[in-house]
Amino acid sequence: MTPAGELLAAEIRRDGPVSFRRFMEVALYHPEHGYYTHDPFGAAGDFFTAEQLQPVFGILIAAHIRQLRREMGEPVDFTVVELGAGRREMADAFSEWPYLPIEIASGALPPHFTGVVFSNEFFDALPVEAAIYRGGAFREQRVALAADRFVWHTADPVRPEAEEYFRCYFPPPEEGRWYEANLEALAWLDRIARSLDSGFALTIDYGYTRREWMRFAAGTLMSYRRHTALDSVLEEPGSRDITAHVNFTALQECGAKRGLATARFETLAALLLAAGEPDQFAAALGAGAGAEELRRRMQLKTLLFGMGETFRALVQRAGRE
Ligand SMILES: C[S@@+](CC[C@H](N)C(=O)[O-])C[C@H]1O[C@@H](n2cnc3c(N)ncnc32)[C@H](O)[C@@H]1O
Repeated sequence: MTPAGELLAAEIRRDGPVSFRRFMEVALYHPEHGYYTHDPFGAAGDFFTAEQLQPVFGILIAAHIRQLRREMGEPVDFTVVELGAGRREMADAFSEWPYLPIEIASGALPPHFTGVVFSNEFFDALPVEAAIYRGGAFREQRVALAADRFVWHTADPVRPEAEEYFRCYFPPPEEGRWYEANLEALAWLDRIARSLDSGFALTIDYGYTRREWMRFAAGTLMSYRRHTALDSVLEEPGSRDITAHVNFTALQECGAKRGLATARFETLAALLLAAGEPDQFAAALGAGAGAEELRRRMQLKTLLFGMGETFRALVQRAGRE
């Protein structure tokens, strides 16, 4: 068993089945044995993100942020905060503004600021709670041990906050369906709404809307190792990534209640196309020739055609009421 697995197993033997949120929290973020304590990015790691397609991704996102700043009337005081900044791949692209990268063990949202809260694949990495609708109730899917293996365990009805989340952000419940609640994402929206006096939250991730949830009868939990999606999210905790697709309806509706109104919700491809349009992608493709030009063209192609249709960009505006 992995070291994170040993910790979880001990907790289960002592206290009984743990919530999936707890399982994901230890598997990904335990300070010593969590998956994110080693560097999982890149060719030798388990996955690539759009952020690693530098400089093209950085140049286009910075161009979009310049457009947002223009819409705000070019405030002098303008900070870019990044949630889940990982390897700080965006640092160069954001160097024209004060840039505040936030990671699990470093950085914090300023109490009050004007600017942009940017994130790429942050919300999908937050621990979620899981449930199944059975016998007229949302029953929590906890994690138990059976012969030293982690297994799902259908437990009591979920706590009231999760029940409210399910009733609010999903269509009427269906017997036997799987549900996921990302209450941590809503807590982050609260924090953003409190701290961002004026500006935008720009969130890039993969996910679904209320209507699209119908496609995910078995839920959206996924696990990755060495660029391969794996079947079970319960195996080898700490040595593989675990993600849950983002519920964009929850981000939009919960954001609206907190003064973060949706300004745009589109595919990543649409956002990048609009950002590169004014100069026909000249800035992103650069003046280089040969190998560098080819490399940048490949990055643009991956961003627009590979990731661009799967990933979504949500732009929410603060400070307008
Ligand atoms: C999938 S990675 C994405 C990293 C980077 N944005 C990219 O696109 O390459 C998710 C990141 O979110 C960070 N993260 C997760 N929970 C966090 C929290 N509560 N506060 C700050 N960062 C967090 C993780 O440590 C990880 O680096």
